[in-house]
Amino acid sequence: MRVLFVASEVAPFAKTGGLGDVAGALPQRLAERGHDVRVVMPLYPRVRAHAPDLETVVSELAIELGATRVVVSILEGTFPGTRAPVYFVRCPGLYDRPSIYTQDADEHLRFVVLSWASLLLCQRLGFSPDIVHANDWQTALLPLLLKTAFAWDRLFERTRSVLTIHNIGHQGAFDARILAETGLAGSAQHFHQDQLREGRINLLLTGILYANALTTVSPTYALEIQRPEHGAGLDAFLRERAGVLFGILNGVDENAWSPEGDAHIAQRYSADSLEGKEVNKRDLVRSAGLAYHSHVLVFGVVSRLAWQKGFDLCFGVLPRVLARRPVQLVVLGTGEPKYEDFFRGLSRQFPSQVAYRAAFSEPLAHKVEAGADSFLMPSRYEPCGLNQMYSLRYGTPPVVHRTGGLADTVTPFDRRTGEGNGFVFEHFDEAGFAYGVDQALRTWGTGRGEDRARWQRLQRNGMRLRFGWDERVTRYEQIYRSVQPPGPAQV
Ligand code: ADP
Ligand code: GLC
Repeated sequence: MRVLFVASEVAPFAKTGGLGDVAGALPQRLAERGHDVRVVMPLYPRVRAHAPDLETVVSELAIELGATRVVVSILEGTFPGTRAPVYFVRCPGLYDRPSIYTQDADEHLRFVVLSWASLLLCQRLGFSPDIVHANDWQTALLPLLLKTAFAWDRLFERTRSVLTIHNIGHQGAFDARILAETGLAGSAQHFHQDQLREGRINLLLTGILYANALTTVSPTYALEIQRPEHGAGLDAFLRERAGVLFGILNGVDENAWSPEGDAHIAQRYSADSLEGKEVNKRDLVRSAGLAYHSHVLVFGVVSRLAWQKGFDLCFGVLPRVLARRPVQLVVLGTGEPKYEDFFRGLSRQFPSQVAYRAAFSEPLAHKVEAGADSFLMPSRYEPCGLNQMYSLRYGTPPVVHRTGGLADTVTPFDRRTGEGNGFVFEHFDEAGFAYGVDQALRTWGTGRGEDRARWQRLQRNGMRLRFGWDERVTRYEQIYRSVQPPGPAQV
């Protein structure tokens, strides 16, 4: 199949979170199966570090969006390691900014342009996609573009669209004044009419209404977003489309994330050589400026510090735990000031126990996964979550809230039977989180002797699991096929 895969971030070129990881891995796995996959993303300044040799394939592409005219060019590169092509939309005026996402007044335009450019590129290349795969609100206009502005072109006659919802908390909800700049002012009747009357346009909703199939990134989240509690206002629309909404758990890119092959960590290890993990623990705590004691439990955090991630629960719980127990904590993450301030404050209050790095660092993220004993992920909601899967894989049993993809991957450890791979709390409140942390501490015990043997059993339960892409890619292929129109494909 010919697949056009469009995303606002794609690892290794640019990444702020799991979308980048998935948009990097899934197209490459599809390409390995013989599909003709073309990835399109913006040319952010940081891309150049991972793609030094880019070739201009379209030097000037004019996009008319009402009174706004944007001219872009398109550069072609490939993923390092595979030959799958990646097209970068160059438009310094829109993409040369300090961060991938902004609060700027033209945020809508930055990604409307990406969506338009990707279809215009198909026309220039004569590439007739069977599937246009859009991701999150940034590219959720694509299904409607195919049904309106590009419907005249026979190139797209057989093209069907799939929209993956990685996070319903971000919807691309804008003032309806942006209508002209979607380039679809003449198709205003296709936007949700009540919202338009109220002066709003919601790009994710537009995608939900028009995509031929919808996917989200775990089975539990697929159910959760159909209920008011987690639907962020879109649950009714998703219930209407439940017949074409599929929950597919993300995979883990084993090339990047496995303790046996990780290039960033002090020593590689496996379930059979857990001494290797101990070397990473020593490396992590020492380089974080803490003293290393093998029997002291080290918690790790790697995260965007956003409301979604539930760190509010740490405010009351962690100071109490740190004051009473000799545990240590290493945190890597940036985001909302109140969480950054909290972890900074914690490291000052407990300087021999807590280290906080306010940075985005790929190498350090790997070191925390490998070096911590247990991983904290108290997310309020979590569509899939990759970090808990990395943690399981690295023998770093996670403490998680039972929600979304966390519920689908982490099972509570039972000290009697030795079954289970982590610590799961049910209620999103301080008592719930305190219970989860306490379960980890009780299981850790003295960190020696029999307690250590029990902990290793828990570690191995998680390390045995594989969250490989293979099965998931097959599911995506099935969904792609299910939306194909009948009749022979064009060549
Ligand atoms: P989300 O996509 O909601 O942020 P995921 O768990 O799916 O959550 O994915 C997060 C990804 O971003 C992981 O690959 C994680 O290692 C990475 N990440 C998050 N914060 C940082 C950071 N400060 N430095 C390096 N990597 C980070
Ligand atoms: C989003 C979600 C996260 C998911 C990632 C990749 O950022 O917050 O749970 O793993 O997308 O699908």
